[in-house]
Amino acid sequence: GAVADPNAAPQAATEGASASPDAALRTEAAELFEVIPRAAEPPSGRPVTRAKVDLGAMLFFDPRMSVSGVFSCQSCHNIGMGGTDALETSIGHGWQQGPRNSPTMLNAVFNAAQFWDGRADDLAEQAKGPVQAGVEMNNTPENLIETIQSMPGYVEAFEAAFPGEEDPITFDNFALAVEAFETTLVTPNSRFDQWLMGMDGAMTDQEKRGLRAYIDAGCSACHAGVNFGGQEYYPFGLVEAPGTEVRPEGDVGRYAVTETAEDQYVFRAAPLRNVALTAPYFHSGKVWSLEEAVKIMANAQLGTELAEEQAQDITAFLGTLTGEQPQIVHPTLPVRTEETPLPAP
Ligand code: HEM
Ligand code: HEM
Repeated sequence: GAVADPNAAPQAATEGASASPDAALRTEAAELFEVIPRAAEPPSGRPVTRAKVDLGAMLFFDPRMSVSGVFSCQSCHNIGMGGTDALETSIGHGWQQGPRNSPTMLNAVFNAAQFWDGRADDLAEQAKGPVQAGVEMNNTPENLIETIQSMPGYVEAFEAAFPGEEDPITFDNFALAVEAFETTLVTPNSRFDQWLMGMDGAMTDQEKRGLRAYIDAGCSACHAGVNFGGQEYYPFGLVEAPGTEVRPEGDVGRYAVTETAEDQYVFRAAPLRNVALTAPYFHSGKVWSLEEAVKIMANAQLGTELAEEQAQDITAFLGTLTGEQPQIVHPTLPVRTEETPLPAP
């Protein structure tokens, strides 16, 4: 039986009766973006089991999947650093510098295709690439299988992950286990998601202005949906070609995949979740400041010069896309045996 305070009553009544001040912006945003789920399924619909995820984690962290014994997936996709290596372009086998910046694998399960140019259809297909890439892990499927087969810990883990299969240790199953682990690497409950679900206070006024500007400027035309991108391909330089210091001439993007003239310098619209954690930016990794990347985008993709304040607001908004980072316990990896191939230079 609380006694109504006559001074407080009108305010309470107003709050109850009218929608929140953010309602209009939220309705608009809900048409463009989606709340990120806490768990994902691979688009293939392949079942994700605990045993597969646990095996995938072992493989992800095991540097013996590279021929040198030096590089694991974690080397270039550090789960503690937003899923990146924080290098301009990745360093791999024999200290070679690769041609592209390492994109995050966090939330990659939501992307329509993998790599900056979308050349792998899904995470399982993708996982076979780096193992064999000369500048990454420089291994062969045969040596990888021999390595796995030599360790009883892995034999057991593959049997548990692929029960009933006569010969569970295959390159395909390696890729499926890695895919299963990667589907667990999602970053839910960012402040943007909280706001989209109805919490006005989850974003600051500046961040809300930034969201407004992001939509009005046209960023959401390419960076929308659950992952704020990762779905479609566009020329990097749709309106104005960026300078060669940002878009080096040698990397023609999807042209190398499709060999169609209009795919020159076409790349997948980068997914922007956790983007505040994943500097440096663009496939070239040439831009270290997010605000600078935002200005370059406005210029190259939209032909607009953003006012200083707008660029700051949009950058602040992008910071609200940082979600809860995966808390992964580093797995204990199977011990080697006499049969395990030695690291090779
Ligand atoms: C791209 C996972 C090993 C460097 C990717 C992507 C995924 C991934 C999912 C695509 C993400 C996206 O397109 O949004 C893995 C896994 C690995 C592994 C599971 C272990 C089997 C490595 C290593 C390096 C590396 C060791 C560095 C030496 C890169 C680079 C790209 C990439 C540079 C972009 C390549 C391009 O777009 O052409 N990786 N990665 N990765 N990864 Fe890895
Ligand atoms: C990349 C933001 C507009 C297509 C990026 C990146 C950011 C960004 C921060 C780099 C992400 C990373 O390296 O991880 C924005 C903002 C926009 C905007 C704030 C509005 C001002 C657009 C539009 C399009 C587009 C309208 C499509 C016409 C792309 C593509 C990439 C990209 C293709 C990959 C570029 C590459 O590195 O090759 N965007 N973007 N963006 N965005 Fe945008």
